[in-house]
Amino acid sequence: MAIAIQQLHPVFVGEVSGVDLTKPLTPAEVAAIDAGMDRYGVLVFHDQPVDDAQQITFSVNFGVQETTVGGHIRKPGDHRLGPGIADISNLDRENRLLARDDRRRLFNLGNRLWHSDSSYRATPAKYSLLSARAIPGRDGDTQFADMRAAYDTLDAGLKAEIGELVCEHSLMYSRGSLGMTDYSPEEQAMFRPVRQRLVRTHPVTGRKSLYLSSHAGAILGMPMPEARMLLRELNEHATGPRFVHAHRWRLHDLVIWDNRQTMHRAMRFDDVREVRDMRRTTIAGDAQTVAQEAA
Ligand code: OGA
Ligand code: MN
Repeated sequence: MAIAIQQLHPVFVGEVSGVDLTKPLTPAEVAAIDAGMDRYGVLVFHDQPVDDAQQITFSVNFGVQETTVGGHIRKPGDHRLGPGIADISNLDRENRLLARDDRRRLFNLGNRLWHSDSSYRATPAKYSLLSARAIPGRDGDTQFADMRAAYDTLDAGLKAEIGELVCEHSLMYSRGSLGMTDYSPEEQAMFRPVRQRLVRTHPVTGRKSLYLSSHAGAILGMPMPEARMLLRELNEHATGPRFVHAHRWRLHDLVIWDNRQTMHRAMRFDDVREVRDMRRTTIAGDAQTVAQEAA
């Protein structure tokens, strides 16, 4: 059966059929999915009951896995899952729900801010692949926003103004905006800001997109309130309803998104009572955005 992709939203997101992700893919299948990612930015696969090893095998068709070092506050020995799989659940290593005041839970609430994965790393992520292993009875969608369409619809004056701007991104900015400011010296060193272009160009399609994220908290050479205000206005524009798709999870869905051209956020659910076990693999980007050619 051949791969087919049906567009789910007026500007992006495709639903893929005709492929079994628990089995090794053919080069033609990988090429079809890669081309679909370049075009749609987000791809949804239903009924894919992959285990962790199968998810990793599928993921590395698209590049090298990002090392998970540094993007969390879990300590060694506190991990529920093996290497190469990021734990996007509300569970501790004994599979118990995290308590309301658990610091790990509070840190994870940051996923409910619009963001692009690993924008706080010098070389940020290419793809993220999220697999639904257990879902709550209601709520807990993931929303996606198309940053290409958001860029395209800016007026020419604003495009010219922001074209060469460089932002600082850090987990301290995103978590700080939620009032989480108590970090150990090791965490502070780990969350040191990195620089990212505000407008980036997709390496394959050449399309420009806004590179926004809750981790962005400053713009080089711009007074702080002006920078924060500009970022806020751009975020409001970019996450308007015409650019946003809500994914309602079914068990064993797998969703891939391109962090270079989309943002996403988790939506609320009753996380102190219901289990939501999502597992993420992340494909590393291959270049720093600040090294990218001037637009
Ligand atoms: C992630 C993420 C959102 C969600 O895995 O990077 O932001 O809905 N997940 O769990
Ligand atoms: Mn994320």
